[in-house]
This record gives sequence, C-alpha cells and structure tokens, in this order.
Amino acid sequence: MRLDKFICKSTDLLKNEATIAINKGEVAVNGVVCLEESKQVHENNTVTQNGNVLIARPFRYILMNKPSGTICSNVDEAYPSLFNYLDVDKVSELHIAGRLDADTTGLVLITDDGHWSFNITVPAKQCQKVYRVGLTRPIAEDVAEKFKHGIELQGEKELTRPAILEVVEPNEVLLTITEGKFHQVKRMFAAVGNRVISLHREKIGQVELDVESGRWRYLSNEEVISFIHK
Ligand code: URA
Repeated sequence: MRLDKFICKSTDLLKNEATIAINKGEVAVNGVVCLEESKQVHENNTVTQNGNVLIARPFRYILMNKPSGTICSNVDEAYPSLFNYLDVDKVSELHIAGRLDADTTGLVLITDDGHWSFNITVPAKQCQKVYRVGLTRPIAEDVAEKFKHGIELQGEKELTRPAILEVVEPNEVLLTITEGKFHQVKRMFAAVGNRVISLHREKIGQVELDVESGRWRYLSNEEVISFIHK
C-alpha cells in the first residue's frame, strides 16, 4: 500500500494531511525518513510518525442488500447513496466492488481493500455474478445459446464473455456473467430484442445475499478468502 494511504489507515489524518506530514519529514520507514508519499509499504515494514509506530487498521469487507433508488457512489447525485445505510466510521475510505444501477437491487460488496476488489471486478479473474432478471417479453428459446457463445453489444468491439442463462419462468431468468460492462445485463437483453424490467443481484462468487433490503453485515473470513487466488 502507498505510504500516504498507510498513514490515513493508521491515523485520523486525511490524504492531504498525510502528504504534509511526509513532506515535513515526520515519517520514517524502517528507521529512515521517507519523503516519497507513493512509496509502497508492506506489513513487515515499520512506519513511524514523529517516532510513534503506526499500525494500520484492518481492512473491512461488507455485504449489503442495495435498495432500489440508491446509487453506488459517495458523491451526492439525484438519488441517495447506499452509503447512507452503512453506519460505520470513515465511509469515505470505502468503495464498491462492482456497482449497480440506481434501479437495480441486491448484493453489493463494499471494502477499503483495492487488491481484494480487483479479484471481483476484473473480467480476467472470471468471478461469477448471478442476476435475477424480470423481462417484458417471454424469453426466446435461442437466447441461452446466444449468451453462451457471447453476443455483440451496441458500441462494443468484443463479444460478451460466455454467460449462463437459466429460465425460471417465461418472463424471469437467472443470468450468470463474469464481467461488468456498463449496463451489461440490460444491454444483453436489449441485443436479443427483450427489455429488463427488474434486476436483482443474488450472488457474487460463493457469497449469497442473506440480508434484507437496506441491511448489511461484515463478510466472514471464509467469504473474504474465497475471492483470493481465483
Ligand atoms: N447490468 C446492468 O444492466 N445493470 C446493473 O446494475 C448491473 C448489471
């Protein structure tokens, strides 16, 4: 982790205040004053500020059931942020591993560990996300096969990665995808002449949604580890 981030995670300083402390020569790494805010520090490094050893707070891993009409952002926009539902300290340090649209509901994973969320969001890691999708029209018979092979989305050069479609009812399906292009699910169904009217994420990797709308919980260690080395 960068030195300035480490200082924020181990003190109450904001990023600009951490930079000032570094520039003033207050911070040492393994006993040597460090003026480089982007220096990478690891658990086995000893970081001090004015001689006091700094210990980083542990990373946080949170599961939330996103209500409809909320946005996955800390920034004030037309809709309230889902972070309003999260009564924890230092919310500004947290980010969402795979955002949902304002009208989409369901499972979001929230963390301050950027390396961990990379395992969830980067398509190469092939982390599966399962969506329950309500459609305006009954699903056509050939759609599962088309999604399995990948389809062309408007404005995209590459086909979508293979996706799994399970029909629940004529107008309701489960869709499993391993990437997260902008409005991907809505655009996939639009590409086959249908329209999404409800979208709910039920599962990411091995983690299943098990809290009510607007509620959250910390992930278990087992759940956290399940995303690593995939
Ligand atoms: N695909 C969408 O179209 N919207 C979402 O919120 C998530 C996936």
